[in-house]
Amino acid sequence: MPTAPATRHDSRTPRSGPSQEHGPDARSAVAAGARKQHALELFAGLPRHYDRAGAVLSFGQDPRWRAAMVAAVHARPGQRVLDVATGTGLVASALVRRYDIEVVGLDQSAQMLAAARARLARSPELAARITLLEGQAERLPFADGEFDHLTFTYLLRYVDDPAATLRELARVVAPGGRIASLEFGEPARQPWRALWGAYTRGALPALGRTVSGEWARVGRFLATSIPDFYARHPLDTLQTYWEAAGIGGVQTRLMSFGAGVVTTGTRDGTRRAAG
Ligand SMILES: C[S@@+](CC[C@H](N)C(=O)[O-])C[C@H]1O[C@@H](n2cnc3c(N)ncnc32)[C@H](O)[C@@H]1O
Repeated sequence: MPTAPATRHDSRTPRSGPSQEHGPDARSAVAAGARKQHALELFAGLPRHYDRAGAVLSFGQDPRWRAAMVAAVHARPGQRVLDVATGTGLVASALVRRYDIEVVGLDQSAQMLAAARARLARSPELAARITLLEGQAERLPFADGEFDHLTFTYLLRYVDDPAATLRELARVVAPGGRIASLEFGEPARQPWRALWGAYTRGALPALGRTVSGEWARVGRFLATSIPDFYARHPLDTLQTYWEAAGIGGVQTRLMSFGAGVVTTGTRDGTRRAAG
């Protein structure tokens, strides 16, 4: 179980070390709480079917949601973006393809990163632009404002303190940088709410079983994880976490009647003049 600071997964190094402005208090060791331990175990068995199964379990909508999130980043060629919870590197690859940028993909699961490395091995043009790092969203091994933009996908349901994690994510983004995320949601209106409930509680675990034992577990997990998350952190409360983290202009886009939630904002502050 990785609890140490980021472990290198290729020959390229982060631009600088951890911020000195955030002392030990702000970066206290991340205890492997039950939620984190569960996430580590859950994703250890998923990489093999991840891309295909992820699309199936989202009713074929996930690639569309992911594309909308990537489009909201508005990066310029040559910029540097951090993709947190990069998993098998789907978002990192989409970012490079769309914007011609450098991406650091960070994830706490060695197994998911191994699948990302296998993807990059098949695409040298992507491998040249993507650096993979094992690390934790709650304690990023980067300096303040080190990245031009940041993305994270399906992360906050797995952390113990989403508000604190958002502060840590925002910390490493330069003022004016875009922060964009994607998460499952819950449709607010009928009949979509009832249909989505039936899908996540009934069809999703059954579909998972058709892929593998691990995916059956994911199906069962998602059926409770999504409603539990929004019971603890409703959408408007999540927006206050973003704002408290120093992210302005926060916008929440509900997709597929609210089954997908794309949230975007801009890091507060003024960018320092170059030189
Ligand atoms: C559902 S997958 C999403 C992967 C990828 N973002 C995508 O959309 O394809 C969630 C990922 O979050 C990672 N993860 C969960 N908690 C994390 C944490 N605290 N720090 C870093 N990665 C984490 C898991 O290891 C897993 O790869």
